[in-house]
Amino acid sequence: MTHARQQRIQVVAHRGASEDAPEHTLAAYKKAIEDGADALECDVRLTADGHLVCVHDRRVNRTSNGRGAVSALELADLAALDFGSWKDLDRDEAPDRTGGSTGGAADTSVLTLERLLELVADAGRRVELAIETKHPTRWAGQVEERLLLLLKRFGLDAPPPDEPSPVRVMSFSARSLSRVQEASPTLPTVYLMQFVLPRHREGRLPKGVHIAGPGIRIVRNHPAYIEKLTRAGHQVHVWTVNEPEDIDLCARLGVDAIITNRPAAVLRRLGRD
Ligand code: G3P
Ligand code: CA
Repeated sequence: MTHARQQRIQVVAHRGASEDAPEHTLAAYKKAIEDGADALECDVRLTADGHLVCVHDRRVNRTSNGRGAVSALELADLAALDFGSWKDLDRDEAPDRTGGSTGGAADTSVLTLERLLELVADAGRRVELAIETKHPTRWAGQVEERLLLLLKRFGLDAPPPDEPSPVRVMSFSARSLSRVQEASPTLPTVYLMQFVLPRHREGRLPKGVHIAGPGIRIVRNHPAYIEKLTRAGHQVHVWTVNEPEDIDLCARLGVDAIITNRPAAVLRRLGRD
């Protein structure tokens, strides 16, 4: 299944508005929604007690005041950590960290995927979600299984095939995407690429994958490859695009989505502010 090309470039907030606020926190996602982002990107990992949380790294050391692998910690352990202070924001200018409107948890606590889905559901406008499964091979299908169960609770696991889906699943792992595709054939999948592998040169994506997700370096170095993908009818979602010249290049090539740490700046550059 190919998904229809987008009418205009979608602006996707990478880990939230992560230049302005600590990545993967409610503060960053609330800011992205305020900024007018069309969609939010998040990475998901499984905790030791089976919760999906939005954390990029294998360990929590970089983005919190704690230590250890997410997979070795329980949700209660993560909830005791501060995921905001590392960003060292000027407190006067920092986004509100005092509590969410629905959950009461601090805006820089660990963010569960469930809480992010609630935020999106309450956004008051359409905000899409691009969920990346991180290193799912280690869990042999558990990440995808939990993810699909959670999406089912929100009525998002089986979008109608003829309408744009509010949720898509991304991964560098073709195996992870094929698990999603087998269980939920109409849920769009995005294959993330750091390099163009010889078997993908002709614009073919791995079996069952709907959308190409090249890194910006691929776009800069191989624009003809991007044109091949779009000519083949694939949507192209590019990460992580922060510089004006890269935004312009993506726009010239007619990509479908720009994933950025600076949604407000990209919207401005595209003339959508
Ligand atoms: O949106 C895709 C991009 O996030 C992949 O790289 O390392 O930021 O997860 P990374
Ligand atoms: Ca990611």
